[in-house]
Amino acid sequence: MNPTKARKVRKAVIPAAGLGTRFLPATKAIAKEMLPIVDKPTIQFIVEEALKSGIEDILIVTGKAKRPIEDHFDSNIELEQNLREKGKTELLKLVEETTDINLHFIRQSHPKGLGHAVLQAKAFVGNEPFVVMLGDDLMDINGNGTPLTKQLINDYEKTHASTIAVMKVPHEDVDKYGVIDPKGEVSKGLYNVERFVEKPEISEAPSDLAIIGRYLLTPEIFDVLETQAPGAGNEIQLTDAIERLNKTQRVFAHEFTGKRYDVGDKFGFVETTIEYGLEHPQISESLKAYLIEKGKELEKAAASTPHKIEK
Ligand code: UTP
Repeated sequence: MNPTKARKVRKAVIPAAGLGTRFLPATKAIAKEMLPIVDKPTIQFIVEEALKSGIEDILIVTGKAKRPIEDHFDSNIELEQNLREKGKTELLKLVEETTDINLHFIRQSHPKGLGHAVLQAKAFVGNEPFVVMLGDDLMDINGNGTPLTKQLINDYEKTHASTIAVMKVPHEDVDKYGVIDPKGEVSKGLYNVERFVEKPEISEAPSDLAIIGRYLLTPEIFDVLETQAPGAGNEIQLTDAIERLNKTQRVFAHEFTGKRYDVGDKFGFVETTIEYGLEHPQISESLKAYLIEKGKELEKAAASTPHKIEK
């Protein structure tokens, strides 16, 4: 039995203090979580998923480039006044809807790793279960079905235990992720876990089920994080702390079967932008037409490229 009694999950922590080196130079002065997918900063999608999942209070862990994130969720009186005067009510609504949210900010002074970023949330979380939502991982951008965060909360209401979101990834990519060693399903898509391993060698990975950016954690994780030594990449890894937590209380893994977008990666970012653009009421038609034309052009170019002769 877990030490934490079942309590309502009300709080979310969004770590957004990483250096975003895969996205330099864009991330030199702004956090990658502020890069827009068409017209909406990535972090706004995450905040919307939290609100749709019933989360009431959100803490964003920021790094050096924190100002734009805070400003984005603050009111901008001058802009609002200008839009009001010009009768741009739709735009005004878009600007105002980001301001009335219970958001808090804390600074991670040095990017010592995801585990260290989560530890900064200890006072905010207190003795409650909470969710961690990575600021660069989007799930089902068009909001179809139950948000993944809500799915984890639904699990928690049954098990009262920490539950980590995982999904199948290509075997050759497992060394980029935390990976689980599943020990049988307790119900469809909900696994007991033998081990959590951060960035295993491909040949040693216990499965192809990789940890993705949503975690439901009991507050005991903070006691573990406080004594967590640096692991892979010399960073304080959340996966390593979860592995230790799993030794003292049950931690489950929930398999996500929807679509995940890794917007912290260049290709993932472009893919997300195209897919979201294809659903966007203002640009959907023109983007579709453009992609069809571009596709024909690329096919033609590929057909006229002489094939390499194998020797
Ligand atoms: P990543 O490993 O994807 O972020 O961390 P990164 O280190 O910024 O990326 P690259 O590899 O250099 O491009 C996953 C999430 O955890 C946050 C990041 O902001 C991202 O949302 N994070 C990571 C922190 O908040 N603090 C850290 O010390 C590390």
